[in-house]
Amino acid sequence: MVAAKYIVGNWKLHGNERENAARFAALKAGCRPSDALAVCVPFPYLAQAQQALQGSTIGWGAQNVSEHAKGAFTGEVSATMLADFGCSCAIVGHSERRSLYGEDDAAVARKAQAVATVGMTPIVCVGETLTERERGETAQVVTRQLAAVLAHASPETKHKLVVAYEPVWAIGSGQAALEEDVREVHALLRKQLNQAGVTGTRLLYGGSVKAGNAAALLNITDVDGALVGGASLNVEEFLAIAQAAQA
Ligand code: PGA
Repeated sequence: MVAAKYIVGNWKLHGNERENAARFAALKAGCRPSDALAVCVPFPYLAQAQQALQGSTIGWGAQNVSEHAKGAFTGEVSATMLADFGCSCAIVGHSERRSLYGEDDAAVARKAQAVATVGMTPIVCVGETLTERERGETAQVVTRQLAAVLAHASPETKHKLVVAYEPVWAIGSGQAALEEDVREVHALLRKQLNQAGVTGTRLLYGGSVKAGNAAALLNITDVDGALVGGASLNVEEFLAIAQAAQA
């Protein structure tokens, strides 16, 4: 059987208790047993996600994590803490973290390792900015970002990674990457993983995935799922993306 495409929602800095309750209920009601879904919610709502989603097939996770296990790191949240709330995954290295909070490749690599160490799935984001694309540096950038994670990862961690290709210019722009560009970058990432002896890694595409373009994007070779921002806040649309994944 072909594994279901992994569809992960990134709620970013959105939601409140009441809205979340409605979203969790609608997700549970609309999700099919064959779907592989997860939602990454703001830290304060992990307990709510756990309460609402435990016992369902829908996973939940965080959008960031500390690279440290514990200590004097005010404001940080460790992977162990996330595991305490039943998280199955955490996004690391999202472009917003890289650009707005100064996370570099080395920090992202340490975060991925921290997440995998507690048995969760690190969803490692890579992707080029518009300037980098225009300079023809796309391959170089994504390869460098993934190489940093692979170099730091333990042998076990390497096999637990999910990698999300998210061209920065496609995020929240309404303009997803062209299919040929997604195909090319995913093939490149697959090759890099294979060369590192890592097979079977799920490669997600993210950046303006919507119900309308999901089928085309998810049908591309080496696209094993999607990381969905804006459209994941609309549960009907998010579930339509999951349906498109199986069409
Ligand atoms: P978007 O965001 O779907 O709103 O483009 C994707 C992401 O940032 O993960």
